[in-house]
Amino acid sequence: MSKIKLGFTVIFTLILLSMFAAFASAEETPFVPTPSNPAPGINVGTIDNNGNEAVHRTHGNFQNNTNSCGNCHSTHNGDSATLLKFEETESDLCLTCHDGTLGFYNVEKASGAGVFNSTHDSASMHDVGTVEIAAAPGALNPTEEELQCSSCHNPHGSVNDRLLKTTVNGKTYSTKAIDLELIEDPAYAEFNASTGPTGLKIYQSKGPVFVNQDLPDVPQRVYSNFCSTCHEDYLKSSGSQRVDGHYSHTTNSYKSGRNCASCHYAHGTDITLLKDTAGKTVADYVKSGWTKEKAEEYMKDVSAGGSAIKKYTNMAVCWACHQSTHKLDTPPVVGGNYSGKPSR
Ligand code: HEC
Ligand code: HEC
Ligand code: HEC
Ligand code: HEC
Ligand code: HEC
Ligand code: HEC
Repeated sequence: MSKIKLGFTVIFTLILLSMFAAFASAEETPFVPTPSNPAPGINVGTIDNNGNEAVHRTHGNFQNNTNSCGNCHSTHNGDSATLLKFEETESDLCLTCHDGTLGFYNVEKASGAGVFNSTHDSASMHDVGTVEIAAAPGALNPTEEELQCSSCHNPHGSVNDRLLKTTVNGKTYSTKAIDLELIEDPAYAEFNASTGPTGLKIYQSKGPVFVNQDLPDVPQRVYSNFCSTCHEDYLKSSGSQRVDGHYSHTTNSYKSGRNCASCHYAHGTDITLLKDTAGKTVADYVKSGWTKEKAEEYMKDVSAGGSAIKKYTNMAVCWACHQSTHKLDTPPVVGGNYSGKPSR
């Protein structure tokens, strides 16, 4: 009798162990998205309203037999008045999927939008979930609403790329859509090919599209209008004064890229993303033989105000455009090289 009991215990332990091993290995193998299971825990239909093969979306393009609402909303057990499911703040909801869980669109890793990650040196970011929109430098009509992912994004879909809202901080800033240069992500070539012509595609962003400069309301200007819904007093043309009397560099121009995206990321920055005026990063210098320590010391943002979500370290971005800058007290000399740009 006791022998049998022992046998059961051993078998039970073995089952438990093998289950544990299965869980452990499941955690190690990266998730491979398929058309009907594009992300962990997200199982979607593959037949659209017209009977064609396609893939349901999490954000917008909802199909008539959708279950997507349940990813974010709970009918009777919501954590907010908008019936959302989250732990502490609304951004936690977005991060349940966008913290790397999906594989793609991981906002804690570098992308065209920058990064949300405060663990590296020279980090600065839009502190979602902790600050009021009123804290935005240049805010002229401060609102007490908290800054969240959904302050900038519409999780239900948008005419703009990357679900960017058309009305931000109560202001409809343009009648034209924000058009970003999106290319299919080569890391997801197999997935992108599997979802059919109308299906979900994973894209990388190259920033605002640069189109016909003679159009009055082209995407780069629209992008600056977008940022200035909260930073109202930062939208300036050359020579015009801010409300407090200060002058600003041109930020509202579509020519030569003088818009917010030329100099800033949208999410955040840190030492791994910052570039010098030659467009090189810490990784580039490490590849060329520097130690990581030396490269990081070089790329460190030493500005008193911090790295201010910049794409370039310190004031290196200025030199990226004003390359002919010469000493103020020295007239240019034929053959003289005042640029002082690094040779590497
Ligand atoms: C990816 C997450 C997500 C999904 C999926 C989602 N929602 Fe929402 N929903 C939100 C968030 C976040 C808000 C709050 C927006 C805000 O405060 O600006 C919201 C707000 C709402 C609101 C109240 C505000 C409004 O826009 O009227 C309704 C109603 C709503 N959702 C319905 C739906 C329905 C129906 C679906 C499915 C077809 C759905 N949602 C799918 C995240 C989501
Ligand atoms: C349940 C998982 C899940 C949650 C929660 C979620 N997302 Fe997503 N998100 C996805 C998936 C999957 C995609 C891929 C495209 C799609 O399905 O629309 C995506 C794509 C995106 C994109 C890129 C869209 C594009 O077409 O380029 C943005 C921006 C985004 N999500 C923002 C948010 C924000 C903001 C929240 C919180 C309000 C949020 N997401 C919550 C799963 C999620
Ligand atoms: C200040 C406005 C703002 C806030 C706040 C914001 N985003 Fe974004 N986000 C953007 C803009 C602008 C882009 C597109 C940038 C580009 O590609 O040039 C973007 C891009 C993205 C993308 C696509 C990233 C990729 O791989 O290209 C995702 C996903 C996303 N945001 C999710 C989030 C989530 C989740 C949060 C909150 C934790 C958030 N965003 C908060 C403005 C914002
Ligand atoms: C919904 C409102 C909102 C929008 C839209 C917005 N911001 Fe901000 N921004 C804030 C707030 C609030 C702060 C200050 C609090 C913080 O640091 O998060 C801030 C801070 C900043 C800072 C200073 C960060 C620092 O560390 O000093 C920069 C730079 C910035 N934003 C650039 C941008 C750019 C570029 C865009 C457009 C992609 C943009 N913002 C769009 C609300 C916004
Ligand atoms: C030509 C590059 C450039 C452009 C274009 C630009 N910025 Fe900046 N921005 C900077 C630099 C550099 C800093 C750091 C401040 C300094 O060192 O003077 C900064 C700082 C900031 C700050 C932090 C507060 C402050 O004044 O120092 C905010 C907020 C900001 N920028 C918002 C914006 C917004 C919004 C736009 C578009 C409307 C924009 N910037 C366009 C280069 C730029
Ligand atoms: C994207 C290219 C670009 C970048 C980056 C850039 N500038 Fe400019 N800057 C210009 C152009 C073009 C003008 C000519 C005036 C205008 O905006 O119409 C200009 C004008 C100026 C002027 C003259 C004032 C004025 O409004 O005409 C100063 C000073 C200046 N820039 C300093 C800087 C500093 C400091 C930085 C770094 C924060 C910087 N620039 C970054 C393109 C750039």
